[in-house]
Amino acid sequence: MKINLSLPALPKHIAIIMDGNGRWAKEQGLNRTAGHEKGASTVRDITIHCSKIGIEYLTLYAFSTENWNRPRLEVEFLMKLLERYFKSELKIYLENNVKFKAIGNLSKFSSKLQKIIKDTEEKTSSCTGLTQVLALNYGSRDEIVRAVRKLNDNNLEVNEENINSSLDTSFMSDVDLLIRTSGEIRISNYLLWQSAYAEMFFTQTYWPEFSTDELDDIISDFNKRDRRFGGL
Ligand code: IPE
Ligand code: IPE
Ligand code: MG
Repeated sequence: MKINLSLPALPKHIAIIMDGNGRWAKEQGLNRTAGHEKGASTVRDITIHCSKIGIEYLTLYAFSTENWNRPRLEVEFLMKLLERYFKSELKIYLENNVKFKAIGNLSKFSSKLQKIIKDTEEKTSSCTGLTQVLALNYGSRDEIVRAVRKLNDNNLEVNEENINSSLDTSFMSDVDLLIRTSGEIRISNYLLWQSAYAEMFFTQTYWPEFSTDELDDIISDFNKRDRRFGGL
């Protein structure tokens, strides 16, 4: 593992669209499910690395509002994988002082999975290092609709500040660096509001093969970019 201490400034918030699990597995002659398994271990490696180098927020797209359209068996596998993931990761979160948070509409999940997610949030709530956020049954459009509804229900003015504080992501700063793996160059309904001024980075690497070295290279590239936010 390479930790580059000479980096001038780290992105505070990194968001990743973890894509390419299925294609990686197919290329290895394996079932798509093997790609999801390997992808879960990449989540662990990247999370530990981000916590070590001092990133504040790492938001990972794990299951979209559109992913319910996949074959039933794949969806069922992903739900079971999530249950197993949280059971095994609690120790890793605590060892690395990582706080876990979920965003997305969790009410669509089984009550068992919802409880595991809530328990993991509670048990890691006093961790003070990296916050790892998993986007679960997450879609930006769904999130914005739910936020505007909250404002409506509470009779609050519709303005940027109030929308921001009603989004699932209200506890975080905007995305600084948005990465998508697997060569697809699209956003797929991810953090549309929060990425308004994010620097984007697209890599061909499939998520199961994404490494901490590649992340370091992307962060170095991020540091060379001139972020103007509409100014000069
Ligand atoms: C990303 O990998 C994981 C999820 C969306 C759950 P994919 O499953 O989309 O893999 P590809 O894009 O089919 O290769
Ligand atoms: C986006 O990947 C969702 C996640 C990574 C969880 P998809 O594979 O679902 O996106 P599309 O269908 O290629 O846009
Ligand atoms: Mg995909």
